[in-house]
Amino acid sequence: MKALLLIGGFGTRLRPFTLTTPKALLPVVNKPFILYQLSLLKKYGIEEVILGVGYKGHEFKKIQSIAKSLGLRAYLSFEKKPLGTAGGIRNAYKFLKGKEPFFVFNGDVLADFNLEAILDFHKGKNAYVTIGVVEVENPSAYGVLVVDENRRIEKFIEKPKEPVSNLINAGVYVFQPEVLEEIPPGKEVSVERETFPQILEKGKEMYAFLHTGYWLDVGTTDKFMKANFDVLNGKIKLAYEPKDENIEKGENTTISEDVKVDGKLITGKNCIVGNGVVIKGNVIAGDGCHIKDGAVIQDSIIFENVVIGENSEISNSVIGKEVIIGENCRIRNSFIADKSLLLPFTKMEG
Ligand code: GDD
Ligand code: MG
Repeated sequence: MKALLLIGGFGTRLRPFTLTTPKALLPVVNKPFILYQLSLLKKYGIEEVILGVGYKGHEFKKIQSIAKSLGLRAYLSFEKKPLGTAGGIRNAYKFLKGKEPFFVFNGDVLADFNLEAILDFHKGKNAYVTIGVVEVENPSAYGVLVVDENRRIEKFIEKPKEPVSNLINAGVYVFQPEVLEEIPPGKEVSVERETFPQILEKGKEMYAFLHTGYWLDVGTTDKFMKANFDVLNGKIKLAYEPKDENIEKGENTTISEDVKVDGKLITGKNCIVGNGVVIKGNVIAGDGCHIKDGAVIQDSIIFENVVIGENSEISNSVIGKEVIIGENCRIRNSFIADKSLLLPFTKMEG
């Protein structure tokens, strides 16, 4: 079976990090986010994955080898200009056409979907389209659905001002291959705003499968942090297995003996964590980081090759790649872009 991952968006709500790195390649516990989706596909025996890319699409070439190492065949479906969610699906026509249904995923959802159950449901209902749905308290930022007692979809309204239910599109679909013909080629089309309402209008059968496990759209900086901490704490297990120890370090990393960890610290390879460093809550540091003596870090994510100066304090922040933070800085609730340079004694409160 095939699956298409839609990963061509600009990731505007994850700036500044998506200015340099596409959303699907941002690190979640030091692994590219897309690896979690690929691991889910692997778990359910999906063999072929098509990556629907646009923005910074060439960056995804390196993902093909990661997919291969998982035993998946991966193909890139390039959009010269972003074609929207349905346009991205139509653009992958040559990979998806045929007689078999296929999966489509929004590429920014962290979830432990039961793909076998979704596919069985789709077949059992003889559906044209099946949409995975979740129940949330604040549905207005999502696609909202109304379903009947048999879970047949009656309405699909993308980001309504006044939501009519708490059931939202979870960003996983099963499509019959004929759905590809519903989408005009070479144009920007939204599956949520155009294709789904048009299919319903025609009276074709769309059904909603209720997912009750873990689900998170990692599309904003706050949710990106939550995704990292949830994975670290084992709330969802796909590509990372949580450990009991409160310090987990990569190869060739040196952590001073007097480092105090009141929570969890995970580092990548080739890091140095200096004398008297204090870690509170969840702290994730990528490869090649140097956390200098006396620094205090709380609930933060630090990308690769970052230097944190002596006695600097960082809390509730994300620090981009190759950032240098001088000594005695205080950074709170902030998102620091890649390659930033913060002079000593900088105070920043987001
Ligand atoms: N290939 C391609 N081309 N992919 C795209 C494009 C495009 O032009 N535009 C967006 N995408 C990808 C994004 O990279 C992302 O992975 C996915 O499509 C969804 O886009 P978002 O921009 O993240 O949409 P959203 O989060 O506001 O809303 C969507 O997801 C919600 C669930 O998380 C909608 O599908 C909602 O209905 C849904 O509830
Ligand atoms: Mg999203």
